[in-house]
Amino acid sequence: MNRPVLRYGIVGTGMMGLEHVRSLSAVPGAEVVALADPDGGSLARALEAAPPGVAAFADAGELVEAGGVDVVVVASPNHTHREVLEHVWGRPVHVLVEKPMATTLDDACAVARRASRHGGIVWVGLEYRYMPAVAALLDEVRGGAVGRVRMVAVREHRFPFLVKVGNWNRFNRYTGGTLVEKCCHFFDLMNALTAARPLRVFASGGQDVNHLGESYDGERPDVLDNAFVVVEYPDGVRASLDLCMFAEGSRFEQQLSVVGDRGKVEALLPGFMEVARGRCSELVVGSRGEGWPVETREVGPDPTVGYEGFHHGSTYLEHLALRRAIVAGERPTVSVDDGLWSVAAGLAAQQSIAEGRCVELSELLGAQCSGGAWRV
Ligand SMILES: NC(=O)c1ccc[n+]([C@@H]2O[C@H](COP(=O)([O-])OP(=O)(O)OC[C@H]3O[C@@H](n4cnc5c(N)ncnc54)[C@H](O)[C@@H]3O)[C@@H](O)[C@H]2O)c1
Repeated sequence: MNRPVLRYGIVGTGMMGLEHVRSLSAVPGAEVVALADPDGGSLARALEAAPPGVAAFADAGELVEAGGVDVVVVASPNHTHREVLEHVWGRPVHVLVEKPMATTLDDACAVARRASRHGGIVWVGLEYRYMPAVAALLDEVRGGAVGRVRMVAVREHRFPFLVKVGNWNRFNRYTGGTLVEKCCHFFDLMNALTAARPLRVFASGGQDVNHLGESYDGERPDVLDNAFVVVEYPDGVRASLDLCMFAEGSRFEQQLSVVGDRGKVEALLPGFMEVARGRCSELVVGSRGEGWPVETREVGPDPTVGYEGFHHGSTYLEHLALRRAIVAGERPTVSVDDGLWSVAAGLAAQQSIAEGRCVELSELLGAQCSGGAWRV
């Protein structure tokens, strides 16, 4: 059977852009044909990883204008997503925009509104959903293993933020803040696991260990490195996040637990150093039934994954899902609505810390947010 080949253009060819180039090189029926980045060093590294003959541009506008691309992947810094997407709207292309979709609510709402009128698929790169252990957790919960979901707990204990091109990830104004930049993944998972939208957020956090001695043009980084966040959903469902970014020596980098009225499911994911030492993810399924049974399964590397990358093959698996949706003419699995709510929860948590109070999502999303639904 003939497999349609989709042609991809990557905008922003730093660490994540490279991850997309390498993942797409392993996806059947995908071809990277164009790259765009204003930084010559990033572009040169991506050209080395890309197939021969790839076109290179200094900016997104030139790449889109040149045509010959079916899918544009936006992997530039967070604060540039809205502006880069302006080149794409109305063109006959599908889009994958990296998380977080935007850094402010104004930008996130503008992107969501514009995306609703775009002809092609607009998919948000909340790829943690595709980590095999997380996907297995979602399947168990959606399959009824815990009964009615009552509590979700997420812990991420990891290494500090890496160095980025131009050090954009050292400042809230470029990232949206740690709870947007990093934790939109976790707010998205909470929303997916509870099948709901958050009502209010209370958080406590600080910058206590990381980047304190750094200075960029005389300015000290202002990004949080630890926080506790509590999120309330309709019907008394609650979720919590425990984030620590100076916890390199952790057995598991992410731990997710979902408890319902009938049981509990946990996903335990090792960080990349533990993966290098041969450690696998684990899925633990427990029940309140007779004898309180607990079953633990190892979730090892999936042999069908063409490129493992940094996140247990999730970039590759995300691209398989996006490609399937494009070919089948389906709606995106991870939509701009999901992107918007994950950003809004992160911004609410940042505001809660800044103001020392509980923040209602309706304060942020206003009249557009009603009963957990957001209307474009
Ligand atoms: N899905 C994930 O889990 C994941 C992981 C890491 C990063 N990301 C996201 O990917 C994006 C890029 O992050 P990164 O880690 O690759 O950063 P990076 O600094 O390594 O790379 C960003 C690149 O974008 C380029 N750039 C800057 N402005 C641009 C513009 N206007 N148009 C085109 N290119 C531009 C820079 O020159 C740089 O090469 C961010 O949104 C980040 O949050 C997602």
